[in-house]
Amino acid sequence: MILVTGGAGFIGSNFVLDWLAENDEPVVNLDKLTYAGNRENLASLAADPRHVFIQGDIGDADLVARLLAEHRPRAVVNFAAESHVDRSIHGPEDFIQTNIVGTFRLLEAVRAYWNGLPEAEKTAFRCLHVSTDEVYGSLGKDDPAFRETNRYEPNSPYSASKAASDHLVRAYHHTYGLPVLTTNCSNNYGPYHFPEKLIPLVIHNALQGKPLPIYGDGQQIRDWLYVKDHCSAIRRVLEAGRVGETYNVGGWNEKANLDVVQTLCAILDELKPRADGQSYAAQITYVKDRPGHDRRYAIDAGKLERELGWKPAETFETGIRKTVQWYLDHPGWVENVTSGAYRQWLETQYGGKQ
Ligand code: NAD
Ligand code: TYD
Repeated sequence: MILVTGGAGFIGSNFVLDWLAENDEPVVNLDKLTYAGNRENLASLAADPRHVFIQGDIGDADLVARLLAEHRPRAVVNFAAESHVDRSIHGPEDFIQTNIVGTFRLLEAVRAYWNGLPEAEKTAFRCLHVSTDEVYGSLGKDDPAFRETNRYEPNSPYSASKAASDHLVRAYHHTYGLPVLTTNCSNNYGPYHFPEKLIPLVIHNALQGKPLPIYGDGQQIRDWLYVKDHCSAIRRVLEAGRVGETYNVGGWNEKANLDVVQTLCAILDELKPRADGQSYAAQITYVKDRPGHDRRYAIDAGKLERELGWKPAETFETGIRKTVQWYLDHPGWVENVTSGAYRQWLETQYGGKQ
């Protein structure tokens, strides 16, 4: 079996669902259930004996040690993190605690467990750490896309905390020989994406008749990857990645934020037109820019393609349409996650603008 952390969040829950759809290897899922964790994402596994859910913190060394001893996983996949840049600007503390201290405690527990494994299991064991392209900083308009050899130049408390966790993972390989793998991924989108992030926020606000907030001039560029493609990349790296290596994961889909929002409006105009016949684009509103806002991210996923033969299955056009359709088909999910704590966040971040 494998141990997944943060498997009730956006990417982690997609990963667990896809993993169990692809094979029968059981998953123990350790998640603290912060505001971003949602057991409803895993509702279809409620009666599935292959999925064991444990509510807890990756920073709880005793709990992690107990889980490892009891379930004896052949791999750990670490998704658990505080993941939202804007929240890291308002309150970095949780990012330091979970992303740095939590990853450190998890690594310590995994190292102790791994050391005690019989030789064959020790050799086969893997610890895969899921990270972000944001550790590489911001690109200029004509710079080549991020490669694994780029310098780390994180600019937000979020990306700095992820960079620190990546360094710890690297050090545990070089110092202790722990068989680690790291993936650095671009912006994901798809089902179960919490509506504090750009794509689900815009879909949700559009349908609610609320403003669609564009930070600054909306010309910041992100490289979008459909979440299920990210999950297939992680499975592939876990299966065949070279120990100690890092792999960039991206969708070859660079888009300016304003273009993303206009695309979402056009799809919604087609699938669920506004009652007054106007386009949802009429709701676009320019708001104050994010401090330290990175201008451009772009991933060169060539290493993953060359070494492991991975390619994304979706283009932005196919993936974004599926995503909009998923949100239209799951109004109850959105309703449930946009309850009290979410509303409080909107007040902090956007003030009266919502
Ligand atoms: P998310 O915020 O949706 O989910 C994070 C999950 O981790 C939640 O279920 C939360 O309850 C859990 N968690 C938080 N702190 C924990 C702790 N101390 N112990 C145990 N569980 C804890 O995040 P996501 O978007 O699914 O991101 C997953 C991982 O992928 C993160 O490491 C993130 O940095 C990375 N990543 C995300 C993106 C993206 O576009 N979303 C891109 C690149 C990398
Ligand atoms: P986000 O989804 O928060 O991801 P990240 O900051 O990790 O890239 O934001 C994606 C881009 O969209 C980013 O450039 C910030 C911008 N953005 C807006 O313009 N308006 C919004 O309301 C949000 C949430 C993000």
